[in-house]
Amino acid sequence: GHVLVLAGGLSYEREVSLRSGRRVSDVLRAGGIDVQVRDTDAGLVPAVLADPPDVVFVTLHGGSGEDGAIRSVLELLSLPYVGATPDACRIAYDKPTAKTVVRSVGVPTPEAVVLPKETFHDLGASAVLARIIERLGLPLFVKPSRGGSALGGSIVRKADELPAAMVGCFAYGDTALIERYVEGVEVAVSVIDLGDGPEALPPVEIVADEGVYDYSARYTAGHTEFFAPARLRPEVADACAELAVTAHRALGLRDLSRTDMIVDADGRPHFLEVNVAPGMTETSLLPMAVEAAGKDLGAICHRLLQVARD
Ligand code: DAL
Ligand code: MG
Repeated sequence: GHVLVLAGGLSYEREVSLRSGRRVSDVLRAGGIDVQVRDTDAGLVPAVLADPPDVVFVTLHGGSGEDGAIRSVLELLSLPYVGATPDACRIAYDKPTAKTVVRSVGVPTPEAVVLPKETFHDLGASAVLARIIERLGLPLFVKPSRGGSALGGSIVRKADELPAAMVGCFAYGDTALIERYVEGVEVAVSVIDLGDGPEALPPVEIVADEGVYDYSARYTAGHTEFFAPARLRPEVADACAELAVTAHRALGLRDLSRTDMIVDADGRPHFLEVNVAPGMTETSLLPMAVEAAGKDLGAICHRLLQVARD
């Protein structure tokens, strides 16, 4: 049998996904594993029916890759796969829902409002925005409630920057999440479960070149400085690890995830979002954390596949 890596898809993160898929298939092949890589188009179902893989590694980011849809197809085909179930994805991929869940288990997350595009226009944009600023204050962070790789996201430091931020956000999604912006250190904690329960990898600290960890800062080598492990006091690093494992459990995730957070000036981490298909590219955070832990990405991917299959 062979392993099927799913990559590509039709989300805005297609190019990132193709890079993640290439990386995962390279490290698996280096370990002697028979790997096929496929895009997710209408040809997927006939192809897997004709030549069923033993197990699937989903490296699809955004859209159907993370919202549970593709995983429902895999369930329908009785194919085991690495990562969260469709139900868990639906909850985790929707940032406002994920925030509600983690807040209910005591994890801090920035105060926020959710605004669908229609509501925004129906209620009169400027009146709505004035009320949001009155309620949350400034600065704010605006992003699509579903999405990834910072596409459509921006910081709003002055009230007159908010309308443009909303337009930028709605270019990538139909619902906006407008959060109070917590100043601090951006940290990502990857969680893997190799069969013995979820475990946090070392936290990775992100220092973007121009202060904003946007799409180009993410995927252009040299645009962002990373510290793996993060330059945090041990007790703060522990709190970050605990937050990520708590989020992973509370959201009912499986196998792997990555939680992005901000550590405030008091050393307290705040949940921003969780990724059910964390980036696996050369500049992505989970592979960096694996390296910082002195582990081998190929061995981890292989083990995740074994756990998913058994
Ligand atoms: N959404 C991108 C792929 C990430 O979180 O790594
Ligand atoms: Mg993401």
